[in-house]
Order: sequence, then C-alpha cells, then structure tokens
Amino acid sequence: MDEYTVEIKRTDADGKSSMQTFKVPKDKVSTVLETLLYIKGYLDQTLTFRYSCGMEICGSCGMEINGKPHMACSFVLDNFKEDKIVIEPLKHFKILRDLAVDIDPFFDKYKAVKPYIIRNDDGNYQKELLQTPKQFDEYMDYSMCIKCGLCMAACPIEGSDEDYLGPAPLTAAWRFIADNRDQGKKMRLEIVSGTEGASRCHFAGECTEVCPKGVNPSFAIQKLRSSMLGLEFQKLFGGK
Ligand code: SF4
Ligand code: FES
Repeated sequence: MDEYTVEIKRTDADGKSSMQTFKVPKDKVSTVLETLLYIKGYLDQTLTFRYSCGMEICGSCGMEINGKPHMACSFVLDNFKEDKIVIEPLKHFKILRDLAVDIDPFFDKYKAVKPYIIRNDDGNYQKELLQTPKQFDEYMDYSMCIKCGLCMAACPIEGSDEDYLGPAPLTAAWRFIADNRDQGKKMRLEIVSGTEGASRCHFAGECTEVCPKGVNPSFAIQKLRSSMLGLEFQKLFGGK
C-alpha cells in the first residue's frame, strides 16, 4: 500500500521533545488535519493538537508543515508532492503539548491595540452609522483575519523579540483606524508608535506570504507607518 511517512514533533508536559514517525495511507484528498485525526484514531490516541471548525474559519489549527506555517485543515497532503511530511508546532509560540501552543500572549498583544470601534459618543449615537461601499473597502480585506497566528510564526522579528507587537495585532490596529466609524485613531497610533510597534518591522513580507485569508499585514504596517508620520508632523506643527 502506498503510504506517507509523517514525522511529528512530540512534546510532553515536562517540555521534553522528540520526533515520532507514523505511516499513513496515501490518498489524493486528505488534509493534514484528517491525517492527524487518523493517527489519533488508529495509531496513537495521546497525540495532542488543536482544531475546531475544519474549514479555515476558527484559526486554531495552525502548525508548521514541512517548515512553513499552514492551516492543517486546508493543507492537502497530495499538493505537497513529497512522501514525507514533517509536522511541528507553530514557531515563536510556547509549546503546551505536542502541536498545541499557548496563544494567550498573542491575544494579549491583539487586545493591546484596542481592536474594536472607539467612539467619542460612547456608542450613544442616535442613528445608524452608514458606510459607502468605498468606505467599507478601506478595511474589508483586513477584517478577514481569523487570528490564526501564522503571520506571527513566519515573522523574523517575532522570533528575535517577543515583545514586538507583530503582524496580526498591527493589522488589527490598521483595520479599525481605516474604518470611518472609528474615532480611536490617535490613541491607537500612540500604541503602535512605541519601540515594539510598527517601526520594528523590516518588511520581510513573510507575514503576507503565509496568510491563509489573503490579508496583507505588510501593507497594513506600511499604512500605519505613514499615519504615524502624519501624527508626528501634526505634533511638530502644533496640531493636537
Ligand atoms: S493576518 Fe492572516 S496569518 Fe495573520 S493572524 Fe490574521 S489570518 Fe492569520
Ligand atoms: S480547524 Fe478551524 S481553521 Fe483549521
């Protein structure tokens, strides 16, 4: 029978890691998630990984597949054209067990940029906040983020500086600044202007390359940078 060789990095609760090899039947349609479920169901029920929706919506099944961050639920093994697949937990995240990583620090950074509409009227507006299709287009692409963290795992700065806000949180900052209903631009720009904010980005572009939803964090960070410059000019020339 034709088989794939699947090597999985296992880490126990004490943090001890080793590679374990499994043989799984080859077909044309199975995703990495289905392969992991097969292994858990038939070969080793102790294998730990995280998933929920199975359709690239929840963002919880990110992992390194042959050295690159991917969503396990949408990665079809046959697309890879290789018989050996190496699966490891997402880089730059602390491993909890096997392929499950600690996402709390990522969400803490996400929350830090205030990823919600901020209004001067505290939301007590009297009529619907209408948007033109053009205004909607300004942030629509950035709102597709599923918070999977693949961009964080691909980002070289994240790997060397864990305090760097990172591509997804910075993209979230831009998503709300670009929304015409939002009035928190100045507050958010102050947050992303810090030493661990948008100016740390070297524009390697790997975040954009790995994003499964076509979000472009690299471009969002460029937009933030030019807005930060605008804020600096405003301060220099007496604006508030
Ligand atoms: S920007 Fe893309 S890669 Fe990054 S967390 Fe959002 S969906 Fe995932
Ligand atoms: S299981 Fe939800 S994105 Fe993969």
